[in-house]
Amino acid sequence: MQTADLRQRWLDYFAERGHTVVPSASLVSDDPTLMFTVAGMVPFIPYLSGLIPAPYPRATSVQKCIRTLDIEEVGKTTRHGTFFQMAGNFSFGDYFKEQAISFAWELLTKSESEGGLGFEERDLWVTVYEEDDEAIELWKRVAGLPEQRIQRLGKADNYWHTGQPGPGGPCSEIYFDRGAKYGAEGGPAADDSRYLEIWNLVFMQYLLDDVRSKTDFSVVRELPKKNIDTGLGVERVAFLKQGVENMYEIDQVRPVLDRAAEISGRPYGRDHGDDVRMRVVADHVRSALMLMADGVTPSNEGRGYILRRLLRRSVRAMRLLGVDVATFPELFTTSRDAMKAAYPEVEKSYDRIARLAYSEEENFLGTLASGTSILDLAVSKTREEGRRQLPGDTAFLLHDTFGFPIDLTLEMAEEAGLTVDRGAFDALMAEQRNKAKADAKAKKTALADLSVYSDFRALGETVFTGYDYLQTETRVLGIIVDGESVSRAVAGQTAEVILAETSLYAESGGQEADAGTIVGAGFELDVLDVQKPVKGLVSHRVEVRTGEVAVDDAATTIVDPDWRRGATQAHSATHLIHAALRQVLGPDAHQSGSYNKAGYMRLDFGWNQALSPETRSEIEEIANVAIRRDLPVETRVMPLDEAKALGAMALFGEKYGETVRVVDIGGPWSRELCAGTHVSSSAQVGLVNLVSESSVGSTNRRVEALVGIDAFRELATERAIVSQLTSNLKTPREQLPDRIAELLSSLKAAEKRIAEFESAALAQRVPDLAASAVRRGDFSVVKADVGSLGSSDDLRSLVTSVRARLGSDAAVVALAGVVGGKPSVIVAANDAARDRGVKAGPLAKAAAGVLGGGGGGKDDLAQGGGTNAEAIPAALDAVVDGLPN
Ligand code: ALA
Repeated sequence: MQTADLRQRWLDYFAERGHTVVPSASLVSDDPTLMFTVAGMVPFIPYLSGLIPAPYPRATSVQKCIRTLDIEEVGKTTRHGTFFQMAGNFSFGDYFKEQAISFAWELLTKSESEGGLGFEERDLWVTVYEEDDEAIELWKRVAGLPEQRIQRLGKADNYWHTGQPGPGGPCSEIYFDRGAKYGAEGGPAADDSRYLEIWNLVFMQYLLDDVRSKTDFSVVRELPKKNIDTGLGVERVAFLKQGVENMYEIDQVRPVLDRAAEISGRPYGRDHGDDVRMRVVADHVRSALMLMADGVTPSNEGRGYILRRLLRRSVRAMRLLGVDVATFPELFTTSRDAMKAAYPEVEKSYDRIARLAYSEEENFLGTLASGTSILDLAVSKTREEGRRQLPGDTAFLLHDTFGFPIDLTLEMAEEAGLTVDRGAFDALMAEQRNKAKADAKAKKTALADLSVYSDFRALGETVFTGYDYLQTETRVLGIIVDGESVSRAVAGQTAEVILAETSLYAESGGQEADAGTIVGAGFELDVLDVQKPVKGLVSHRVEVRTGEVAVDDAATTIVDPDWRRGATQAHSATHLIHAALRQVLGPDAHQSGSYNKAGYMRLDFGWNQALSPETRSEIEEIANVAIRRDLPVETRVMPLDEAKALGAMALFGEKYGETVRVVDIGGPWSRELCAGTHVSSSAQVGLVNLVSESSVGSTNRRVEALVGIDAFRELATERAIVSQLTSNLKTPREQLPDRIAELLSSLKAAEKRIAEFESAALAQRVPDLAASAVRRGDFSVVKADVGSLGSSDDLRSLVTSVRARLGSDAAVVALAGVVGGKPSVIVAANDAARDRGVKAGPLAKAAAGVLGGGGGGKDDLAQGGGTNAEAIPAALDAVVDGLPN
């Protein structure tokens, strides 16, 4: 049974049983607490947790997933894949335990010819949560499963949540017994390798918070409705059905594994270590391909970092297989060909994927080469010191800075006859992990905090009227103060107000929230912020300026018209710059983020080199020409598929089946999915002035521009500066650059001459200073206050010149002066003085102490400074007092 066939059987089975078939969402999760889609249920979290009413009572999907928590296990077991597909059936308050068990049992045991998966009943086992007697009864009654093939396990195995605050509940897992060859008898509780988990049924009935680990969390409350969330591991069932040994050998993965074997010249199945590496390559190449197809770009943080890690681990696995040249061009095309039937997007965006992956490989091969030199150095140093163990911090440096996995370092050290201090390495790794964990925790937002909104969201979406009107009459549906729903708020209080309709734009899609007011009979509210805490629900954060507002009051939302005009100009300007950017740089310039507010916009895009001044000007000019052409701006609402077919540029987060808003400027000249507010024709933007271009991370650039009157003001300021320069320099504008260059070069020449004069003047002081030497015991001593000097370099050269002039008898020179307004002292001792025990460092330190500061240096020359110039004579005396008797 090919993987594609398995997928279709699944969808058909549940579609015939009243489930809406929902296409896979992106791997990039739009849930704020999850970086990736880690399970089939992720796109449904708002429905499962009751925040948003589900649009259908039951659904089914085969969802693309990424999990990288167990990345070190990949290739070593039969079943750990970073990318995998989860087949699921979901009930949103519709059917519950009994029906879920009955569906699962029927589909698993129905024969293949009848559309089932054709498993033998005798090979199936189940586990249930230890307290769930009801599930045990159901498995016996509905499936006829004998009691001895049902095992109870604790939270670690039979309770499911995403690892973040949100919905969860006890679960029941179905296992397939692979037979005596694969391990001990005794069911899944005894051996989860012989007994392979294939399907998890989650009885989702609680809202969880404070999720610290798989077993440590708190239950906030019961969910409003009991739900079903199930997940069948498509790769696992595929490998069982395809009669192969593990998930890396199924039809969608095996070709890459074979290709890796071919390139390395090492056959698969001969050496366990090599087999693991080939499986790592096959898994990671596929995961990276799928992530890039969903728009992820390699970088040093977040999702991009995970992708980079997968790519680098593949390169390293190939290196450990003895290959140190680029292999991605072969491996990625092989993976593309194995995946494109199920996921046509990998073929459509392959040019972009190839560019990213191949250059990442080239770069990393370079890094590996530098890391190898570091390792070679460390190896020779260790040998020279007569040790046989490489220090743990070298291994850590190689890991952290050069991306060397510890096994690579171990292997390379071993080739050189050394071991590695593994304990020290592990300790450094643990320290780093703890730090990362603490950082991650600090960033989480708790879903439980959002539950206050779910009752309001259940009433329907907040209607946004602001595309057509600046004012809207509506009704207060709810008031929230300090996270609690209340009936009223009074003057001076800050509260959140939920309305049935609003003309105020909530911050989203990069556009800042509208400014404005909300008024009603007897109250005025200043709007501080407008947000959508839950998709479809707008919350207005306000301060009650006068009176008292209560639930059910009539209210009017009023947008500040100047603010809004600026906001629409800035948002349309963002689209113009984006389109111009892609015209100049090509379709690879992917928008990765944007922000706009009245007068200002910025746009981040995937690109790995700085734009030249010419490119910047070209982009700016294209955008301004589009403004001048007065292109019409049109918005249309349509299904996502249609918008994509029209070539609208979409970012992450849109789900299939949704209707979307397409904003055209000049027809297809600029076409984007966007819910923002826009001008009605491009001329209304006025002017765009690109003021900066900079990097954000290694693979993203940022352009910033001023828009409309702010753009004009910036240009006017520059003009004022230019006209000031022309009048001060008495030079026409076009000659300014030459004139300034000329002035700079004559200034430089003048500075050079001054320096020459100063050093000649200094040199003239040397004979007198040397002649002022007095005897002090065995030493000839010069001490003098030389007054104000240009730099401490001057003072130092004076000191060393005087010392040289004193000859070879023991001599000490201490000169002090004022440099840059601060007292400074330098002490020099010649060889003969040092032979008699003089050290310049402590002498300079003592003198600096008297000046109210610190100092030190070498035995022959040292310096110090302080704050109290009056103490210079005493400081010089301190040097003399410090000489040996
Ligand atoms: N959400 C459940 C899982 O991922 C089905 O195992």
